[in-house]
Amino acid sequence: MSSEYDSASPMHSGWTSPDPVERRAAYEACAVELAALLAGEDDAIARMATTAALLFQRVPRVSFVGFYRVVSPELLVVGPYQGPPACLRIPFARGVCGAAARERRSQLVSDVHAFPGHIACDAASRSELVVPVFAPDGALLAVLDLDSHAPSAFDELDQEQIERLMERAFGQGPA
Ligand code: SME
Repeated sequence: MSSEYDSASPMHSGWTSPDPVERRAAYEACAVELAALLAGEDDAIARMATTAALLFQRVPRVSFVGFYRVVSPELLVVGPYQGPPACLRIPFARGVCGAAARERRSQLVSDVHAFPGHIACDAASRSELVVPVFAPDGALLAVLDLDSHAPSAFDELDQEQIERLMERAFGQGPA
């Protein structure tokens, strides 16, 4: 690790700002922090564990942040995560995570009760954002699941910024 994580550092003030410019700045600060934490580490599990830990600290109102890894053609298995114990295996055919993997695109769910087939690993979960994670060659490595006990906790700006973070941390994006 080339940079220390400072647990005492306050969250960027922009996270809860009504101004999208401020919120993007908070995400950018988080991306810079993540790049420093991941520098020189090529083990995918170590990178996922560190990413989940940082996002759990930084993104407001999350109850769970974790990766579900593609381990065989139609199956996700839980990977590094933060939060309460979660479901271990999710077929591509099921749940919000399965939909993100199947369609290879993000799923922004403001009310999980309105999503057919939502898997309730945590009965208190109300909204979620699931983003696909691609390797540099375009292969689907995993999906990243963010859950919240608050309804509509995530919006399009969160989706755009988390997608960018995943490209930078696992794909071909700039470090
Ligand atoms: N809600 C997800 C399952 C994963 S957990 O909530 C941690 C889904 O429907 O795919």
